[in-house]
Amino acid sequence: MATRGGFSSRLGFIMAAAGSAVGLGNIWGFPYEVGQGGGAAFVMMYLIFCFVLCYPVMVTEIAIGRKTEKNPVGAFNALGFKKWNFVGKMGIFSGFLILSFYNVIAGWAFGYVYEMAIGNFAIADHFSEFVQDVFKVGAYGMVFMATTAFVVSKGISGGIEKAAKFLMPSLLIMILLIVGYSLTLPNAMDGIKFYLIPDFSKLSSEVIINALGQAFFSLSLGMGALITYGSYVNKKENIVSAAAFITLADVGIAVLAGMMIFPLIGFMSGGTMDGVGSGPGLIFVTLPQIFGTIGGTFGAIAGTLFFVLLCFAALTSTVSLLEVPVAYVVDEKNVRRSRAVWLVAGAIFLIGIPSLLGNGYSDFFSNFITYPGSETATDFLSFIANVANDTLLPLGGCLIVFFAAHIWKKHNLDEELSHGAPNYKGSFLQKYLNFAVGYLAPAVLGFIFIITV
Ligand code: PHE
Repeated sequence: MATRGGFSSRLGFIMAAAGSAVGLGNIWGFPYEVGQGGGAAFVMMYLIFCFVLCYPVMVTEIAIGRKTEKNPVGAFNALGFKKWNFVGKMGIFSGFLILSFYNVIAGWAFGYVYEMAIGNFAIADHFSEFVQDVFKVGAYGMVFMATTAFVVSKGISGGIEKAAKFLMPSLLIMILLIVGYSLTLPNAMDGIKFYLIPDFSKLSSEVIINALGQAFFSLSLGMGALITYGSYVNKKENIVSAAAFITLADVGIAVLAGMMIFPLIGFMSGGTMDGVGSGPGLIFVTLPQIFGTIGGTFGAIAGTLFFVLLCFAALTSTVSLLEVPVAYVVDEKNVRRSRAVWLVAGAIFLIGIPSLLGNGYSDFFSNFITYPGSETATDFLSFIANVANDTLLPLGGCLIVFFAAHIWKKHNLDEELSHGAPNYKGSFLQKYLNFAVGYLAPAVLGFIFIITV
């Protein structure tokens, strides 16, 4: 085990990495992206990207982390390729951007715990006022960031591991119960059709790029979060199977989140699916309605519990986002961990303020940019999310796999992967990963990057 601390058990690592992956990306991001991307065709692209391209990226990130026991910048240095540490720096920058807006959404989810507890299901109709109350939601966000900082300051096995082991399974059970319930609602099947029967005329290059960005974001890839978590992993761990589990768990929760939301939209819209493309506010408008239809004390209890679990899912993700710059500052700049944590968390909170203001409170940030060819302006939060998820993460992933296969070299990667995986060498999986890491992923990701910029 690394002297800088590590996961105390096999399950601990898998749960923490799955905790990083499963978060707002699955429950908030995925349904709204599916809604905007035209439904099942988006879902299909997303699934293909997750398994065919992202899984190999995940394996590579964990292997680089474990081999070097370093943060994303230190890892490239430790392998002897200092020139490549810009990839790690870019990852740390992406992490800053992502956490800055992610924390705003987490603050909303946190605020909803209270709203559900008092049985305020009507919040669904007042969501836009809720997010414009920037002092209130800003305070929620501040508490959320402070909680994240507190957990990270406790170090890797203290907080992160323990919380994830118990909370992830609870979230899964809760989602399954809600899925069961929403499928019984009238017009639920219209939602399911939208969600599962693809209409390929909906596939545009924009939809494909969004599906790719969503896959990277949801699996926590392309910015070194899993290099960092990998750096705390034991040599006996089987990376290829751990990564397979993490990918399946993450994709599974996202797919179930859709099964929870779309039947409800079918129900609310009387089968027309109106409102499905409403964007980042989607779950904050639809979910209270699920609990509202249950109604009464029971609805309030279910709603409260759900948002509490959602906050925990978000927390295991924000913790991994904060851990990346913190590990960098601690390893490379010799700053004490507790000091590094609060400095970085404070800076990211400040960077998040425009994302907080851009939901109606400030005109400037609410209509921050108008993309060519679009009639409506995009708010600051969505703009940052687009830059980070759809451009920086896939680019980071592309560079990481290219580096691993062609600079660090495939046989070194294979060697690292075969620790803890005795049957890996010579297997079909090894051949596939060699092909995907060496050629398929760099080519596809590189191509998509070039056509987007
Ligand atoms: N995967 C997390 C989610 O879906 C977000 C995240 C992205 C976490 C990148 C770490 C790194 O909510």
